[in-house]
Amino acid sequence: MIRVLLSEQEIARQVAILARQVSEHYASLVSISYPLVVLPVLKGASMFAADLLRQLNVPLRLEYLRASSYRNGTTAGALRFDVPELTSLDDHHLLLVEDIIDTGKTASVILDELHRCGPRSLKVCTLLDKPSRRVTAVEPDFCGFTIADRFVIGYGMDLAERYRELPYIGELEGCTF
Ligand code: IMP
Ligand code: MG
Repeated sequence: MIRVLLSEQEIARQVAILARQVSEHYASLVSISYPLVVLPVLKGASMFAADLLRQLNVPLRLEYLRASSYRNGTTAGALRFDVPELTSLDDHHLLLVEDIIDTGKTASVILDELHRCGPRSLKVCTLLDKPSRRVTAVEPDFCGFTIADRFVIGYGMDLAERYRELPYIGELEGCTF
């Protein structure tokens, strides 16, 4: 059984607010020749990114990153991180898009890598934040919801590759992770 934590409507409302905040922040900073580079982290952030991107009002470029630290269940395995050929990111404004920031380890590794590209700025937009679990200094610049230390599924987020397709964010009943 799945208990709904954030309904489709609640998510949509918050994504619209985030899109407005992001658009306002970058409006005067980016241009057609220097677009905002949006970097969603696969697979979890794919659904959030698709909804967010369609409401951004600034010139942008889309580059997906792939990172996964959860191989099975809810226990973190070794972080795997693949960067596609990230050409000409130097001098651009970069926005990392995450589904959830938990310990912050994933975002921290990715941010270190992106810093090496020499960006004009580097910010983080996450739909969910679980600050109680943080073991790194990562703080999101744009955040949809702050949640307690619970394992959530849906809207792109998985438990052993399941439940990503749910349109809402929920918690498995009786799941004590
Ligand atoms: P971190 O490296 O601990 O911050 O974890 C980041 C990644 O772990 C996220 O991008 C998610 O893919 C995954 N993750 C963390 N917490 C959850 C959760 O509650 N449900 C599903 N995935 C999670
Ligand atoms: Mg993720």
